[in-house]
Amino acid sequence: MRDSLRELTVELGERAYPIVIGQGLLGSYDLTPFVQGTQVMIVTNETVAPLYLESARACFPGKQVDTVILPDGEKYKDWQTLNLIFDRLLEMRHSRKTTLVALGGGVVGDMAGFAAASYQRGVPFIQIPTTLLSQVDSSVGGKTGINHPLGKNMIGAFHQPEAVLIDTDSLGTLPPREVSAGLAEVIKYGLIRDTDFLGWLEQNIASLVDLETAALVEAIYRSCACKAEVVALDEKEGGLRAILNLGHTFGHAIETFAGYGTWLHGEAVGTGMMMAADLSLRQGMISEQDRIRAVRLIERASLPGQAPAGMVPDDFRRLMAVDKKNVDGSLRLVLLRAMGDAVVTDQIDTNQLDATLRAYCTTSGGVNA
Ligand code: NAD
Ligand code: GLY
Repeated sequence: MRDSLRELTVELGERAYPIVIGQGLLGSYDLTPFVQGTQVMIVTNETVAPLYLESARACFPGKQVDTVILPDGEKYKDWQTLNLIFDRLLEMRHSRKTTLVALGGGVVGDMAGFAAASYQRGVPFIQIPTTLLSQVDSSVGGKTGINHPLGKNMIGAFHQPEAVLIDTDSLGTLPPREVSAGLAEVIKYGLIRDTDFLGWLEQNIASLVDLETAALVEAIYRSCACKAEVVALDEKEGGLRAILNLGHTFGHAIETFAGYGTWLHGEAVGTGMMMAADLSLRQGMISEQDRIRAVRLIERASLPGQAPAGMVPDDFRRLMAVDKKNVDGSLRLVLLRAMGDAVVTDQIDTNQLDATLRAYCTTSGGVNA
């Protein structure tokens, strides 16, 4: 099993860290070299705990391992739930030498990471992502945080993990809808930066939907490599890193409109990437053939292709105005200059944007209409 272990490094100087990818790692991989003190607090949720908590514990032999089990769902990515982590850390007398461990999807990862960034002014943490989306995206790069009722991920901090451990076996229990949501972020890397990978995805998307291990390991490795490269070049999103948000401005508007957790983040990103490709075409940046290529791949991952029922262009305009990429009130979007080449731009043609919004707002809706 260990023969198939793949490793790469997020090159951030003294804060560099490894990403280890393989099968059968939970329960056997020794993570204690990444723990400085004696205490470990595993943060997980009520869905993941019965599946993987005991095997995650076994990755920390000889340590005091405590746990906090959060309610499950994007709607709990808030101050009140975050406080449960601090309550537990203080109850169990965890010192500033403690290490937090995020065991779960992106919600648990973002919250445990933010708790680590702020507990006693910052303690180390380790990511053990268990959804495809968290394995290819949220566990890498150090973005942590929670939602605010007025905007997603608006409260947070940059805080890099000590290590990321990705066990592809954990995907075996993931509902198909969550697999598709993760594939949206995988496809994103092909669209923004890697046309070779885009071609590979077109050949292998069916194997990924079917959770074939070899294809999964390859897709996760190539996605993490792309993300690690971008993060190493622009850790705090001064510029380049924003391309990782292809489709996210439209997607965050959809998520906020629908109510956190109604649409999955990756589902909203999938539709958002179709909208970004549509606007890129309307602004003369890519061809109709390119747009169709993007849409077909996203559809083959079983992702929705319309905004939620009842969502109108004005909803998008209002919600997209609250986006971290906006500067001085002007809208900035990630568009495709070509396939495999994304750009962040404030050169948005309002008439063309309106046309894209109209094209994706229908009365029928995407998922969960
Ligand atoms: P999630 O964390 O809500 O997990 C999805 C569901 O799968 C949950 O019900 C979870 O309990 C369950 N689950 C997790 N692992 C499982 C497993 N192995 N088997 C069965 N069920 C399992 O959602 P997600 O898609 O992983 O993450 C989305 C979150 O990530 C959003 O909050 C988004 O904002 C955030 N995000 C952050 C970054 C970042 O850079 N920090 C990047 C992308 C997304
Ligand atoms: N998911 C976007 C980023 O990490 O920057």
